[in-house]
Amino acid sequence: MTIHPIDVILHKRDGFSLSDEEIHSFVRALVERTPDRLLVTDAQIAAFLMAVFLNGLNPSELASLTREMRFSGDTFDAAPLKTFTIDKHSTGGVGDKTSLLIAPVLAAAGLAHPTPEGVPGICVPMISGRSLGHTGGTLDKLETIPGFNTQLDLPRMAETLRRCGAALIGQTPRIVPADRILYALRDHTGTVESPFLINASIMSKKLAESLNALVLDVKVGSGAFMPSYERSKYLAELMVQTGEASGTRTVALLTGMDEPLGRFSGNWIEVWECVDIMRGRRHPLSSDLIELSNALSGWMLHLAGRASSPQEGALLADRILTSGEAYEAWLKIVQAQGGDTSLFDDPAAHHHPAATRTLKATETGYLSSMDCKQVGWAVQRLGAGRAKPADPVDAHAGIESHAKLGDRIEAGQPLFTLFSSDERLLDEPEQMLSETIRIEPDAPVKQPLIREIVSAASLQSAS
Ligand code: URA
Repeated sequence: MTIHPIDVILHKRDGFSLSDEEIHSFVRALVERTPDRLLVTDAQIAAFLMAVFLNGLNPSELASLTREMRFSGDTFDAAPLKTFTIDKHSTGGVGDKTSLLIAPVLAAAGLAHPTPEGVPGICVPMISGRSLGHTGGTLDKLETIPGFNTQLDLPRMAETLRRCGAALIGQTPRIVPADRILYALRDHTGTVESPFLINASIMSKKLAESLNALVLDVKVGSGAFMPSYERSKYLAELMVQTGEASGTRTVALLTGMDEPLGRFSGNWIEVWECVDIMRGRRHPLSSDLIELSNALSGWMLHLAGRASSPQEGALLADRILTSGEAYEAWLKIVQAQGGDTSLFDDPAAHHHPAATRTLKATETGYLSSMDCKQVGWAVQRLGAGRAKPADPVDAHAGIESHAKLGDRIEAGQPLFTLFSSDERLLDEPEQMLSETIRIEPDAPVKQPLIREIVSAASLQSAS
């Protein structure tokens, strides 16, 4: 019997549970439609999204939607590599560049212990996204490296993994096409912030990488997509359940996004910050970035069997970062993907913003709060992010943070330096930043960067 999209929409709208067949037929209609054969219209997709947003999905519906999306196009088959595959995914942040450190750290750990077939013992098939809303995107950062090709097809990704232990690529049109269609409409229909739709979107893409294990960085705080700690935790729980039910060991770290991570937020400047760290130059404002990157890498090394605990894994990750092994792995990955590594000798020399302005503190006290989402939007308005999906991004736009929450501030001290290619783009972001910064007489209570771990074990003990 044919299942029509309208029947699926009506069922969900009226609070019934959708069957596997209904979800299968809806997702197939999505990806098989053509301009001449409109199996489902944009209006129907939007109605479906809103029905899910309002009524949610039960565990069986969520598993079904995630599975149908995962298999809606090509999937990466890691089995021929006979190695341990692992990835990390963040729900999106400001200045969040941990992928640029984690991939080389894990690759170095894998290269140091190859399999009997000579493949790195750990491989990271990282499929990343572009900047979205107020958050930055790994692909936009990588593409500031001249020649770096993020558009490898799956056979070339497998070859890069074999040689380097990590590959950093973008979603091709053939990987999880259902997400591409749904995501484009979610942005316009007020349905982005549904934990069910976020789960299906992120987990379908991650599970399409055929991973043995996955570590999720779920953001909490003013820069997170989810509006409260509870909602972020719920999302983390859904994603851990979904991963585990599909046979991928999955752990989520709930981590603070109350201020930009590290020293720089932008594109090339974030690559510069990571290159500095991998070459042993640790700026004090990069401490939170290094802490988070080591914690996430630590969990990954632990799940990959290279460390007896996540804490031991974090120490190992730090050793790999400081020894230069991560930098060597990074050079290998960048060269394999066609990037020009000569820029890394002096990354600061390749930062060419045409316009710069420094925002200074107007009072003395402690940096007590900021709306990190507003800071992210300021970075976007400087040109580092995009207003529409097809917009180009400016490699040299962004901000440098000069202080962290809790720091003592003297009036006149620099708080942020703004970079853009156009002097006229500086005014609005400067205003946005100055409006959102709070300097108070008393030091705020500092929150830990890593708030909570959600794992199969923690879910079991809570139930
Ligand atoms: N990132 C994704 O890939 N999907 C979402 O729904 C949200 C963030």
